[in-house]
Amino acid sequence: MSEPAIVVEELGRTFVDRGREITALRDVSFQVAAGEVVGLLGANGAGKTTLTKILATLLLPTTGTARIFGHDVTRDLREVRRMTGVVLGGDRGLYAKLGGRDNLRFFAMLAGVGRRGLHAKVDAALDQVGLLDAADRAVETYSRGMRQRLHIAIGMIGEPRVLLLDEPTVGLDPVEADRLRGTVALLSATGVSVLLTSHYLLDIERLAGRVIILADGGLAADLPVDEFARMAGYTATVTVRGTGSPPDGSALSSPDMAVGSVVESEGTWTLRLHVRDWSIGSFGLLEHALARSSVLDVAIDPVRLEDVYSQVAARLESGSTARGAR
Ligand SMILES: Nc1ncnc2c1ncn2[C@@H]1O[C@H](COP(=O)(O)OP(=O)(O)O)[C@@H](O)[C@H]1O
Ligand SMILES: [Mg+2]
Repeated sequence: MSEPAIVVEELGRTFVDRGREITALRDVSFQVAAGEVVGLLGANGAGKTTLTKILATLLLPTTGTARIFGHDVTRDLREVRRMTGVVLGGDRGLYAKLGGRDNLRFFAMLAGVGRRGLHAKVDAALDQVGLLDAADRAVETYSRGMRQRLHIAIGMIGEPRVLLLDEPTVGLDPVEADRLRGTVALLSATGVSVLLTSHYLLDIERLAGRVIILADGGLAADLPVDEFARMAGYTATVTVRGTGSPPDGSALSSPDMAVGSVVESEGTWTLRLHVRDWSIGSFGLLEHALARSSVLDVAIDPVRLEDVYSQVAARLESGSTARGAR
């Protein structure tokens, strides 16, 4: 068995803010295997950035320990920094008057990239995030998305084995966000481990195999993405639209299906169903209930993490826990 990329044990962090003690993290324990991509979710203030900063050696924990490939984040700073790339959301730390290339060169040297091959590595990284054409323009003229892409290039320039991404797609347009997802997917295919915080569940859906949910500083859930998706209690939503008199929704209720709603407007009706499990029986019920209806179209949408998250977030944050077996 290979060594885990990230090991977090009973990690805690408190802040004192104007005499008031704030517990940003309490007793958090989990592991990330080498090459694994784990999504980190939780409401604002749940402790995600605090956790990311501790792993990146930018903040000390109050209690507990964290290790990156066996290196303690409070003692082995040099080793941890060499193997860890971090991209924090927001726009900090760039040198506004310098160009993207010079910024990247500076951070590359901080990350321990040797002079040999530095130029080529910097240009390759700029190319990867689509900034090569703007490499010599002062960063202060960059758009928000361009700055975010430069942050990503900085996070990757040291060829890290662990990548910590805190809301990396914030401020990116859909094309840029997609490009970033592609880059992260490529990196993970080469064995890089990723801890990815994002409010865009699409990022998690595309990239992560597992999700960790923090609630009020504590670990509220740690489970595979497909298990997380099953927490919705249904696997798909069926939407049927038609004209004339609407079907009888109650005829569709069964152990496999639940009627969400039947809505009528301007001569058409829309029926929404949650399918818990597909079975021959569910098709039969649909056929029966719709036999006398005039159907315009049918859409089947697999459950989205977006739906699950909004559904379970309230439950998780009210204190109940769901810890998946690892
Ligand atoms: N430097 C700080 N001083 C005081 N409180 C802080 C500081 N940093 C974070 N916090 C508090 O810690 C909690 C967790 O914050 P954070 O880790 O940023 O959450 P998230 O990234 O999940 O939104 C919040 O209550 C936040 O206000
Ligand atoms: Mg945050």
